[in-house]
Amino acid sequence: MAEEAHVELAGLTKSFPVRDGSRSVLDDVSFTVERGEFVSVIGPSGCGKSTALSMLAGLDQPDSGTATIGGEAVRPAGSGTAKCAYMPQKDLLFPWRSVLDNTTLGLEVRGVPRKQARDKARKLFPVFGLGGFEDARPSQLSGGMRQRAAMLRTVVQERPVLLLDEPFGALDSLTRTEMQTWLQQVWQRYRWTVLMITHDIREAVYLSDRVVVLSARPATVRREMTVDLPRPRELSMMTSPEFVDIEHELLEVLHQESRRALAEQESGRR
Ligand SMILES: Nc1ncnc2c1ncn2[C@@H]1O[C@H](COP(=O)(O)OP(=O)(O)OP(=O)(O)O)[C@@H](O)[C@H]1O
Ligand SMILES: [Mg+2]
Repeated sequence: MAEEAHVELAGLTKSFPVRDGSRSVLDDVSFTVERGEFVSVIGPSGCGKSTALSMLAGLDQPDSGTATIGGEAVRPAGSGTAKCAYMPQKDLLFPWRSVLDNTTLGLEVRGVPRKQARDKARKLFPVFGLGGFEDARPSQLSGGMRQRAAMLRTVVQERPVLLLDEPFGALDSLTRTEMQTWLQQVWQRYRWTVLMITHDIREAVYLSDRVVVLSARPATVRREMTVDLPRPRELSMMTSPEFVDIEHELLEVLHQESRRALAEQESGRR
């Protein structure tokens, strides 16, 4: 079990075919996530973050390098042996299904009997602040509630590893802050191994044990920073010198990379 949740990306390289040749997206991306660790990935928009995560989810294959979880190469999604649960960048709730029936989708796909799946998901509704909304339609939920429902659908699969692609990206800043506080609480309770993509440096520092910064495309690991702040983290810590120092350092690297990405885009256009 100790090894089960160890995540490793080793030398991942990937190009996509485009009209006038190929687009290099990942260039030797290597990092790990230890069991029970919360790691965030930041990087300029379009640098390859979602592409890297989709390889851990078994949705895509690298050209070279390996994505392993628990020491085993990730198998294609749908093979029924996945060790991770994946929350894509969009919440993808089906409008015609009730919230409860949306949260059981992952289990149903795996062949868990419907009643069993519903019982399991139902138990998590209060933890996710969704008690009483089991029979509602997704359109009746607020943005924050939709994200929690999508996360419940991910968590209920009881995989040792959670892959979250910008889980709060679409939320206003107040709701986002509430969701960060909430996620920290549930994470402390369940201690999943988490790999989360975010654009928000403050969110990354607040939630993570470690932050990985990817370069402009093709992505490679530009910097890794350990966040050695005590837990549980309080919102007031965001103004502490330790927090601010880490935030500034990450911001600087990220801005360098974003400028590089922009310059490359412009030269490509010419
Ligand atoms: N199937 C594909 N075919 C061709 N190009 C692709 C494909 N998937 C992704 N790309 C390209 O790969 C690059 C990285 O995409 P990716 O979605 O991984 O970026 P990202 O870092 O997650 O961006 P964002 O922060 O905007 O979500 C982009 O330039 C994108 O256009
Ligand atoms: Mg993305």
